[in-house]
Amino acid sequence: MRAVVCREWGGPESLSFEQVADPKLLAPGQVRIAVSAAGINFADTLMIQGKYQVRPEFPFSPGLEAAGTVIEAAPDVDTVAPGDRVMALLDHGGYAEQAVARASDVFRIPDGMEFETAAGFPIVYGTSHIALWERACLRPGETLVVHGAAGGVGLTAVEVGKAMGATVIATASSAEKLEVAASRGADHLINYKTEDIRTRVKELTGGAGADVIYDPVGGDTFDASLRCIAWGGRILIIGFAEGRIPQIPANILLVKNIATIGVHWGAYRQNQPHTVAESFATLFRWFEEGRIQPHISNRIPLADYAKAMKLLIERRSTGKVVLTMDAQDQD
Ligand SMILES: NC(=O)c1ccc[n+]([C@@H]2O[C@H](COP(=O)([O-])OP(=O)(O)OC[C@H]3O[C@@H](n4cnc5c(N)ncnc54)[C@H](OP(=O)(O)O)[C@@H]3O)[C@@H](O)[C@H]2O)c1
Repeated sequence: MRAVVCREWGGPESLSFEQVADPKLLAPGQVRIAVSAAGINFADTLMIQGKYQVRPEFPFSPGLEAAGTVIEAAPDVDTVAPGDRVMALLDHGGYAEQAVARASDVFRIPDGMEFETAAGFPIVYGTSHIALWERACLRPGETLVVHGAAGGVGLTAVEVGKAMGATVIATASSAEKLEVAASRGADHLINYKTEDIRTRVKELTGGAGADVIYDPVGGDTFDASLRCIAWGGRILIIGFAEGRIPQIPANILLVKNIATIGVHWGAYRQNQPHTVAESFATLFRWFEEGRIQPHISNRIPLADYAKAMKLLIERRSTGKVVLTMDAQDQD
């Protein structure tokens, strides 16, 4: 099979595109999938540099999520069978024509969901839904600020926030990105290249501040969140795409009576798999009802993986970038 292979830490240019042996000899509980499409995540760009919390042994293929058809299941697996259309969460290995996953990380997808949509679905929607539902307990009528609102996780937080009945304020770095957030239901838009987040959030909330803030960006954006969160509000710490991990002065948490809440969605797979299953059931229902509409800015053939990863690194994507196994470049 063809696969993208990482043999040393570095950027996308340090990866190679190779013919490798198909994965064989499934261990108990494993499933082998013919991959039709693979989602690209910001974490992939960190993993290949050795900057992610997980550093796989060389050689490995990047890729934390994929969708396709089950071609083999270990004898003890009874949740999926050959021929099933599925999406899968992976420790790595999605940028390849076949992938092996734990059966507990493989989910049958709705009939109306294309593989490309499914490939980019689980991580971003799963993260935003569990963050807003299970961690922040977002309530209808509350005001939710989503930073980086046109990015992978950000755009899904806009949609999930709207589906849960919140008023959503989207922030992003350009008018084009904010238009994408508006297309998915954002009520108010803040361009953080040209506008001050604190001032605008205060204006839009009548001085009260936001009840919940969803932050995949970190750095200065997080610092601004501390200044425009409402009394009793909750800030969800999702990621640090901007690069700087912010420090939190404990006195501000006390004085403003606020909570900062870490979210490690991937760890739910081991610690609370029933929550992940319940979350996907809700998200699939919302998808079938048309309440969430996954946005893919770029579908790119597997061989052009470096170009695809650079779209995230250079902040040029919106929603998801997806690698396809057979499609022509539609960029
Ligand atoms: N906690 C979890 O369980 C979890 C799960 C998934 C992802 N994450 C994290 O969430 C973050 C976003 O992931 P993603 O896959 O959604 O990435 P993405 O699609 O690339 O989106 C990241 C967004 O961050 C903004 N950004 C600001 N400064 C940036 C910079 N220097 N480089 C790149 N982007 C920058 C960009 O929006 P603007 O241009 O509008 O600023 C971009 O749209 C990452 O840190 C990722 O590790 C965490």
